[in-house]
Amino acid sequence: MDRAWLHAWEGMIPVHTPKEAAEWELAHASEGAGVQVCVKPEMGEAYCLRSGIVEGGETGVLQGAFQYLASQRLGKPLPQGMQQPCYALRMLNCWDNMDGSIERGYSGPSLWFSEGRVQFVPQRIQWAARLLSSCGVNVVCINNVNVREPAQELIDSMLPDVASLAALFRAYGIRLMLSVDFSHPLRNGLPTADPLDARVQAWWRERARRVYEAIPDLAGFLVKADSEHRPGPFTYGRNHAEGANMLASAIAPFGGVLVWRAFVYNCQQDWRDQKTDRPMAAYQTYMPLDGCFSDNVILQVKHGPFDFQVREPLSPLLLGMQKTHLCLEVQLAQEYTGHQIDLYTMPPMWAEVMEELPQDRLCAVCAVGNLGSGPFLTGHPLAAVNLYAFGRFGWQPHMDVAACIRDWVRLSYALSPEDTETLCGVLLKSRAVYESYTGSLGLCWMVTPGFHYGPSPMGYEYDSWGTYHRADRNAVGIDRTEKGTGYVLQYPAEMQEKYGKKENCPDTLLLFFHRMRYTDRMRDGRTVIQRLYDDHFDGAQQTREMQRVLQAIPFPAAVGQAVNQCMEKQVRNAQEWCDVSNSFFHRLSGIEDEKGRIIYD
Ligand code: GCU
Repeated sequence: MDRAWLHAWEGMIPVHTPKEAAEWELAHASEGAGVQVCVKPEMGEAYCLRSGIVEGGETGVLQGAFQYLASQRLGKPLPQGMQQPCYALRMLNCWDNMDGSIERGYSGPSLWFSEGRVQFVPQRIQWAARLLSSCGVNVVCINNVNVREPAQELIDSMLPDVASLAALFRAYGIRLMLSVDFSHPLRNGLPTADPLDARVQAWWRERARRVYEAIPDLAGFLVKADSEHRPGPFTYGRNHAEGANMLASAIAPFGGVLVWRAFVYNCQQDWRDQKTDRPMAAYQTYMPLDGCFSDNVILQVKHGPFDFQVREPLSPLLLGMQKTHLCLEVQLAQEYTGHQIDLYTMPPMWAEVMEELPQDRLCAVCAVGNLGSGPFLTGHPLAAVNLYAFGRFGWQPHMDVAACIRDWVRLSYALSPEDTETLCGVLLKSRAVYESYTGSLGLCWMVTPGFHYGPSPMGYEYDSWGTYHRADRNAVGIDRTEKGTGYVLQYPAEMQEKYGKKENCPDTLLLFFHRMRYTDRMRDGRTVIQRLYDDHFDGAQQTREMQRVLQAIPFPAAVGQAVNQCMEKQVRNAQEWCDVSNSFFHRLSGIEDEKGRIIYD
């Protein structure tokens, strides 16, 4: 990846279509010498590979070329038969702001915005498009879902610049999407943004016409409404189907899709209120609307009911909605999972999500991006595995996670088979390690408020975000069974059975679903408090072990240095979590660690 980045600075690759890009890739790799590209437009994104031939649709040929080269490099047979993606929409949501910052971005500034404008180095964009396309992503939403001034101009005065950006991505088979501001008509002199007002509807229709005139293949609009102070239909007494359908009908004539986020909850909750339970919010808002959304609306649902915590159960909305197009949203940006300093490899988490979801439940997947213009482009050089794996996941959600990680390692670094396996082992266990020092037993939200890195067990406790664990001297966790908040009732019967009973509930979610006394025994015989102590000590210890193992891997020098620097920070972070969390629970409970380790009182 670092070599490709350097290459991008040497000049533009002279390609304008995915076919040309496919030919260029094959011609510039020894494994692609003499391979023919054959376009069959009716194949769309699909492709077929035979020795010496890549056959596919207009974008399929590029996917095929990348796959051809990857198979050769990995020494694997070419995939047999027609290959096609599981989901037609495989989107990266970039939370880039117009000033060049990236909300929850840990990889440096934006690649395409700065100083309030669309500004980019074409080579860099081409490089990013090439990278994303080689992973399998086909749509990029370029601006933050929180559409703040002057981002509204992206569908106004800045349209020509967006069109230039779109052209660079188009050559790699990637279409753009734009986040829009639901209240935009107000900026243009309309007295209302009410979705049922004829003037508002006409305004959006005309706006869509202008947008599609500039970018005919725009994938559509993405909307965050009535969420964390963003405007939305609730202001006008309308529901979210009314809001989404209005926008959807404006872009329907152009083939656009309207992606509507389901991240709606009360972010001004009184912590004294024990009835309101934030994880219940999305289901309460959207289930009554199942079947009310237009055909070109996709509801984008975060994988868990909270907000990208280190461990959450599957969002019950994803299981409940039967008559609505659904998109699964995951977060590659490691907002709550280590800021791309701590290692956190995500595919094992996605595999768990897919295990619970019925086949065909989703029509799309999207990920909050982890890409920026800083060194290594994903912050931690090894965080690139998440980007690669997300692209693969969109093609094959039931992929073999370990094999996918191994492919990434082998395509990225020339290591011995032994070192490859060692690195894969570290990547595979990194999530569990991170979880054990930050969010054991399903505890979440113990991070530093706002910033979300480092421990602060009471940081969110008396705040307005609905994120409480209510630890006291006797017990910790929230009772979300029918005797408690009733959250568990949002699940189908078999999952109510699994989560609603302490004896069935997986340890990893125990304190998410149940309030437990510190002295209660868990299935393995340990008390809850002992398990909390053990997990935190283990997490810190295993982080030191990961550091030791990674130090011995012969990465290229710059990568090795960056990995070592990140690991030093991670080791400090893990120790900090261990000390702060264990001291917190020790002071509250007054119960000693059975193993007599040092806890700071
Ligand atoms: C999180 C995150 C915000 C973001 C929001 C969202 O709450 O902290 O920065 O805007 O998710 O998904 O919209």
